[in-house]
Amino acid sequence: MTDTVPELTLTRSCPFDPPDGAAELRERGPVARVRLFDGSTPWLVTGHAEARALLSDPRVSSDRGRPNFPMPIPLPPQTRPTNMTATLISNDPPVHTRLRRMVIPSFTVRKIAALKPKIERIVTERLDAMIAAGPPADLVADFALPVPSMVICELLGVPYADHAFFEEQSRRRLDADGNAIRNLLTYLHDLVQKKIDEPGEGLLDDLIAEQLAEGGLDHEELAAMGMVMLIAGHDTTANMISLGTMVLLGNPDQLAKVRDDEAAIGGAVEELLRYLTIAGTLGRVALEDIELGGQTIRAGEGVLVASAIADREQSDELDVANPMRHHLAFGFGIHQCLGQNLARAELEIAFTHLFRRIPTLRLAVPVEEVPRRPNALLSGVSELPVTW
Ligand code: HEM
Repeated sequence: MTDTVPELTLTRSCPFDPPDGAAELRERGPVARVRLFDGSTPWLVTGHAEARALLSDPRVSSDRGRPNFPMPIPLPPQTRPTNMTATLISNDPPVHTRLRRMVIPSFTVRKIAALKPKIERIVTERLDAMIAAGPPADLVADFALPVPSMVICELLGVPYADHAFFEEQSRRRLDADGNAIRNLLTYLHDLVQKKIDEPGEGLLDDLIAEQLAEGGLDHEELAAMGMVMLIAGHDTTANMISLGTMVLLGNPDQLAKVRDDEAAIGGAVEELLRYLTIAGTLGRVALEDIELGGQTIRAGEGVLVASAIADREQSDELDVANPMRHHLAFGFGIHQCLGQNLARAELEIAFTHLFRRIPTLRLAVPVEEVPRRPNALLSGVSELPVTW
């Protein structure tokens, strides 16, 4: 029977589109079996309504340590953190609820609004430097990566001077390098110690004062929590800045709408998030039998939500003036992206300033020649040669 189950690939022949074979997978129904590289056959959810239902269903677990947790690409065991206790993303309630409560106050709309002047300063400085040095430029190294990296450092209280180290480890982690997680955890562990000895400013310092001191988190948990926010906080946003820029440059009529009307940027960012859905698969394990899309997912079975496919259900066209509500680019349910307000602010400010400061911006090579991130769970490019 398994012979008829199609294989899932994460390859995106076009960097903007869902993984190859999406149309065939969708034809099999909103919930159907798929085969992964390791021969396992979890459920794949491609329907948008079904994806939202599954992600908000309390009968699923996000615990990556559970048997049958679906992994769409080979990851050596070392890349899965040994201490997942404090990483939010891999925890279920009640632990998840407790951890999320500790950090949510730092990511409210109001808190992020207060950060906007700092984000504007960082964006302006990066553009000043890029314009002074170029053209040409590598938009990833000169802009898309340093902006979110500096912002998350500022928010967490991590020294930006160490950015080369953690950006490298983070990239190696996504490329399935076994030691990267360990190196990052050691770095964060030492940083927490330094901050205990000499307190500074930032979310890590707040957590040391409020949680570590009160026994809410131990040293190791705090390091793990910091690591996840550091990783989640820059790679994702960096990929959205570079891919979003590519998409807009390739769609001049859409770009014109963003340029002509400053108020349009919010909707444009939402539409780019939907269109690209860079974190294109989200894994879960069913804790009980779940009826979904005409199928019965049995307790203990793995489920992959194909968010990149589901987000194209309504339209395959990019329309910045007509963004779809309820896209899945930030996930849905209790694990919905903690940093979404921050990411939105960064993307809005980055695109607005980039296209205003460099109105003649264009790709320096054809789209097909832009180097892509290999085999990553996150869609992105490793370099983006641009000129003006
Ligand atoms: C455009 C940029 C971003 C995208 C596309 C993105 C995407 C996502 C997605 C899809 C999830 C849900 C994963 C799941 O359900 O299994 C998630 C969770 C998360 N994201 Fe983001 N993210 C972005 C930016 C950020 C930023 C800037 C931060 C900063 C701290 C962040 C921190 C987190 C954390 C901590 C979680 C886990 C939340 C939980 O499990 O409760 N993300 N993100």
